[in-house]
Amino acid sequence: MSQALSNRVYIFDTTLRDGEQSPGCSMTVPEKLRMAHKLVDLGVDILEAGFPIASDGDFEAVQAVSAEFPWVQVAALARSTKIDVERAAQSLAKAKRPRIHTFIATSDIHLKYKLKKSQQQVLDEAVAAVQLARTFVEDVEFSAEDATRTDPDYLEQVCKAVVEAGARTVNLPDTVGWSVPHEYAALIGRMARALGDQAIVSVHCHDDLGLAVANSIAAVQAGARQIECTINGIGERAGNCSLEEVVAAFRVRQDQLPFETRIVMEHLYPSSQLLTSMISFGPQPNKAIVGENAFAHEAGIHQDGYLKHKATYEIIEPRAVGVPESRLVLGKHSGRHALNQRCADLGYKLNREQLDEVYRKFTSLADHQKGVRNDEILGIIQQVTGVAVTAS
Ligand code: KIV
Ligand code: ZN
Repeated sequence: MSQALSNRVYIFDTTLRDGEQSPGCSMTVPEKLRMAHKLVDLGVDILEAGFPIASDGDFEAVQAVSAEFPWVQVAALARSTKIDVERAAQSLAKAKRPRIHTFIATSDIHLKYKLKKSQQQVLDEAVAAVQLARTFVEDVEFSAEDATRTDPDYLEQVCKAVVEAGARTVNLPDTVGWSVPHEYAALIGRMARALGDQAIVSVHCHDDLGLAVANSIAAVQAGARQIECTINGIGERAGNCSLEEVVAAFRVRQDQLPFETRIVMEHLYPSSQLLTSMISFGPQPNKAIVGENAFAHEAGIHQDGYLKHKATYEIIEPRAVGVPESRLVLGKHSGRHALNQRCADLGYKLNREQLDEVYRKFTSLADHQKGVRNDEILGIIQQVTGVAVTAS
């Protein structure tokens, strides 16, 4: 890694492109614009708004996003062909900070079965696409699709040639989520050394083995300075590197990962919520940072520790990532301490005998169901105290 390499990592958001192209995630142009607003507030550096050759909607989305946010770098995707690059350029014609992102596969398996082209043909097409893109915009990114299954010597040759042709960013995607962290770090380190200060090395990891975030972090440690990622980790198949997880790792573990992004952490959860309201599924409940249970505690020992000092079981303050509050979930694993706290939160201060009795009834109910709701706890308090109670 070059001595002069800064710790600043650029966040390239592809929620509106790679994310949007996955099942259940398509968005209309107005939805993309609303999401883009949130992403801009969130502080992403580059916003990939679509793949203009793919549909008129994608073309319009790139136009609309670049018109609405002239100060933001807006990227449009294009295969390494004349027709794609020209279409991307048209969609960005009025953009103030346009980026054309052109890609072609470089692995043997893609060359043989998908493209049916030789390495030399692919190299020539990559160079021609970058040169053409540079006639329209200054900011050109090249991606070597399936880079992690590409012969590394050939990959290095492609990287150097596209930079020579004018690419400023070279992205080395783990397109099929194949790589593991130390292996990806070695590949990225080699390409970063080969390119030196001539281009930013970027990473784009898919999550087929659940390693997209780990691979992206390992790549940054090896010299990458752009991460391509999505809100809630949406994207092709198992998805892309999750934006909220990777930036939270940098923020929370600055001691180990001294990298800076411009992400405004308080916007993470609202961004996740907005995306969820637009597509057909939300993050799984136990998803880090933005999942429903990310700040929920049910086990009695955890609840007791948490009530004594939050840091016993929480490494992130929920509000720091825009989550309104931690939740103590009352279920069969909960203890007396948490139940007493919930009764107090509901407005009832119980004496010791009352709490014992409420706890006994609570555990026998909790044993038979997934969790106990506030109205059920209020019902128990009423039975025990004989006082008519109402939810506040
Ligand atoms: O996964 C991938 O390789 C891609 C490229 C188009 C960047 O999405
Ligand atoms: Zn991808």
